[in-house]
Amino acid sequence: MSGLPQVVRDPTLPERVTIYEVGPRDGLQNERALVPTAVKARFVRRLVAAGLPVVESTSFVHPRWVPQLADAADLVDVLVEELGDSARDLPVLVPNERGLDRALEKGLRHVAIFGSATETFARKNLNRSLDEQFAMFEPTVRRARAAGLDVRAYVSMCFGDPWEGPVPVAQVVEVGKRLFDLGATQLSLGDTIGVGTTAHVTALVEGFREAGLPASSLALHFHDTYGQALANAVAAMRSGVTTLDASAGGLGGCPYARSATGNLATEDLVWLLTGLGIEHGVDLDALVATSVEMAGELGRPSPSAVVRALGADAGE
Ligand code: HMG
Ligand code: MG
Repeated sequence: MSGLPQVVRDPTLPERVTIYEVGPRDGLQNERALVPTAVKARFVRRLVAAGLPVVESTSFVHPRWVPQLADAADLVDVLVEELGDSARDLPVLVPNERGLDRALEKGLRHVAIFGSATETFARKNLNRSLDEQFAMFEPTVRRARAAGLDVRAYVSMCFGDPWEGPVPVAQVVEVGKRLFDLGATQLSLGDTIGVGTTAHVTALVEGFREAGLPASSLALHFHDTYGQALANAVAAMRSGVTTLDASAGGLGGCPYARSATGNLATEDLVWLLTGLGIEHGVDLDALVATSVEMAGELGRPSPSAVVRALGADAGE
């Protein structure tokens, strides 16, 4: 039996948090060696079975830009075969109308666009200027909403940019607000290169609140590059945020962002939430076993401290 932390409740934190799992998409998009579709499908299925309420499965981006996810349509077919219609509730990334069309062809009900808070990253990740990205997203979001889909909008480089340096809170709020005003149903604020610290998180959430977007409309997406992700997660929750993104086993990064290493590991977040008595619904043993299996597929150990600590019990 794995260890679990002793529960000591912190009354200043929410009672329940939704973990938005990005491992199959954000985690795998950076892997050079192609992972077979069947392995990806098993990964998604095991994450769903471990109790993760939201599992982002893949990306309908241009296959030349992210070759690892070129099998997006095939993966969705396999998942629908294995999980039934509920597989159509697993969100996917779509950058533009072409991506949306591909998602609609599969009958998917949740999509996510991904914008940048900075000019340089918009060009590198989307081949668009900061302004042009909105022109690409406008018809995408409008059509998705008209078709009854939920649209999450990621904002990358919210806490710093490897090319531009510091990113002012006001700039992030302006980009996020524009995406929200297009019709997005939730914003996910990404610390793509993991440079943020706790007071910065508080200031960003407060900036959005002042602009009319309460914490309930936000998710926070941390990377653990500098070991700040868990502290930042606590700061986000203290500001009222109840959706946190995480990646099983700490997989991932962004292929178009220099120095974007692993996302916050879902296991590390689950340990923290469990200790704080915050409901999350995830079976930690099942999750660790899933990440250990995936680490075996990828041929290297998980960077997650919790997977390392508990992994031996899961057959590592
Ligand atoms: P582009 O080259 O400017 O595209 O790329 P275009 O609009 O000029 O179209 C060129 C060709 O691509 C056309 O085909 C289109 O049909 C086709 P042709 O007429 O030449 O035969 N095309 C597509 N094909 C399939 N699916 C599509 C699609 N779109 C166009 N969706 C584009 C623009 C946005 C497509 C490209 O830049 C792209 O795919 N970028 C994606 C990069 C990416 O996936 N990055 C990683 C995700 S973001 C991230 O990881 C951050 C996040 O995790 C949060 C955080 O940590 O910060 C979310
Ligand atoms: Mg990420």
